[in-house]
Amino acid sequence: MAYVDEGTINAIRRKHPIKEIVERYVSLTKKGEDYWGLCPFHADNNASMSVSVKLDMFQCFACHKAGNIFNFIADMENISYGDAIRLLAKEDGYEVYSVKKNDSNLEYYEIFKLANKFYQNNLNSSLGKNAIKYLEDREINRDIISKFELGLSISRQPVTPFLLNKYDINKLIDIGISNTDSNDVFVDRIMIPIHDLHGNPIGYGARIYQTKDGSKYINTKATKLFDKGRILYNYHRAHELLKKDEAIIIMEGYFDVIRASTVGVNNCVAPMGTALTKEQVSILKRATNTVILCFDGDEAGKNATIRAIPLLEEAKLNVKVVRLEEKDPDEFIIKRGKDEFIKKISNPLSVIDFKMSILKDDKDLNDAKDISEYLDQIIRELVKETDEFVVEVNLKKLASRFDIEYDLLKKRYNKYKSANKVRSGNNNIVVKKEKVLDKYGQATDNLLYYMIKSGSVIEKAEKDVVMILDDKKRMLFNEIIYYYHKYGELIIADFISYLVTSTEVFDTFNEIINMNLKDDYTDREISDYISVVNEYVREDKIKKLEMELKFEPDPMKQASICMEITKIRGVKNNDRRN
Ligand code: UTP
Ligand code: MN
Repeated sequence: MAYVDEGTINAIRRKHPIKEIVERYVSLTKKGEDYWGLCPFHADNNASMSVSVKLDMFQCFACHKAGNIFNFIADMENISYGDAIRLLAKEDGYEVYSVKKNDSNLEYYEIFKLANKFYQNNLNSSLGKNAIKYLEDREINRDIISKFELGLSISRQPVTPFLLNKYDINKLIDIGISNTDSNDVFVDRIMIPIHDLHGNPIGYGARIYQTKDGSKYINTKATKLFDKGRILYNYHRAHELLKKDEAIIIMEGYFDVIRASTVGVNNCVAPMGTALTKEQVSILKRATNTVILCFDGDEAGKNATIRAIPLLEEAKLNVKVVRLEEKDPDEFIIKRGKDEFIKKISNPLSVIDFKMSILKDDKDLNDAKDISEYLDQIIRELVKETDEFVVEVNLKKLASRFDIEYDLLKKRYNKYKSANKVRSGNNNIVVKKEKVLDKYGQATDNLLYYMIKSGSVIEKAEKDVVMILDDKKRMLFNEIIYYYHKYGELIIADFISYLVTSTEVFDTFNEIINMNLKDDYTDREISDYISVVNEYVREDKIKKLEMELKFEPDPMKQASICMEITKIRGVKNNDRRN
């Protein structure tokens, strides 16, 4: 992947004031210090978006989208943040490197490239005849073999001795190619190279093809490079070809993805035999707004779909579902052909339609009691739907399908809706969560807000804050301090670049910055926030100790726990006196 270093990113950002970039798309009017315009990220008729010259940021006060020039371009063009950087870098005539420089893993990638070549040669040699036959029987031709760099591991021709000519055994063990006894990890299997997000080779999926003994696939064990939960098979190819507004399709298996590409569907990825992880979701989120779940046609595939939906929706991704009347996408395409498959994925189900169809599965829709239960479950689902038209259309459909008064359904819907005042707004934009924060959460947020705005608050917080218990907020806290010390100041618009490209806490930052607290603050307020935060840590510690005390049989140890609790309480009282 093309790489732009951090100094260049900041230089590009400084060269393009936010006003210049926003005005490429939206006309702005000056009001006070800031400029205002119609927000392009939601249906806006009040000019809710402000563009701050001072902060070099845009921020919508209605939909709460915010960010620097790169976020703005990325969202306008529907490209990733990295692509927005590259777009401006090219425009400005900067050199864009093709690999990240001084990547300490370069040598490992070299080893994998060499091993891939070796395995590919095996497949083409006379020892590879059966494997080729296996692939041909699966309708995998030479073009696909070479596109996906498929290879073959053979017991009679191991890769380890070959690689030992050039590399140390410990390196081969480290990356999961060789065992500690210097034998190959993969023997007599079709080798499917797996790459990281940038296209560097980092492991294998390896399929058995001659016998039925042993597991169908073995994958590279967890290594420094290969962390299953943070990669998606075929992501680098899918991402590279992804068109504007195009969805990414998630399938279950290697061969599903490979097969789809044979009919020109190149935007498919697969998690490797495990449930979708949060990290994988955030990878998808950077590349697209919409994902299509196209899992196996069986019960397991249905359940995997059900499990994946909330995870994707939580990340504010648009989710669509395809259900297949065959075992998996691979078989569907082989049996029914390209056109029928394209038709399927071009007309995916909405989540609500998918849920309506599966809720039907275990019900007898001639039975009054089952019908009533079914309607009730669907209405509960509809309550979560944010598009009123979708709700309305579905209520009408249900009313006519089951010959029930529409008003009756609507009444039930309203009842659940008011009991469940959940999310509102459009799925594609960052919706500010209705937060009910306790005073500790509030103090943490306020403190983080003023840290972002002021170096002296950062220094004070770094000195006085014992710890922040919330994971994401602690990460943000640490990033602020790290960044401030690294650059000697915190320029918000540059800090955003750093957060988006190197961390996972941009969303948290966005929530904090969206609080729009008053500009001026007193030292007293900051000290108060810090003592509330610290008190929370102490309370938490005391709670844990009291729990320990309950289960501690040894009286000596009990006494020492009590002393510790007293000590912590003492600090607290001292604090209050100050
Ligand atoms: P499936 O069992 O659906 O395999 O597992 P498949 O893709 O249909 O395989 P073929 O078509 O028979 O070759 C789906 C995915 O789960 C992982 C693999 O990533 C596989 O593609 N898996 C499966 C394993 O990691 N180990 C296994 O033993 C089986
Ligand atoms: Mn299959």
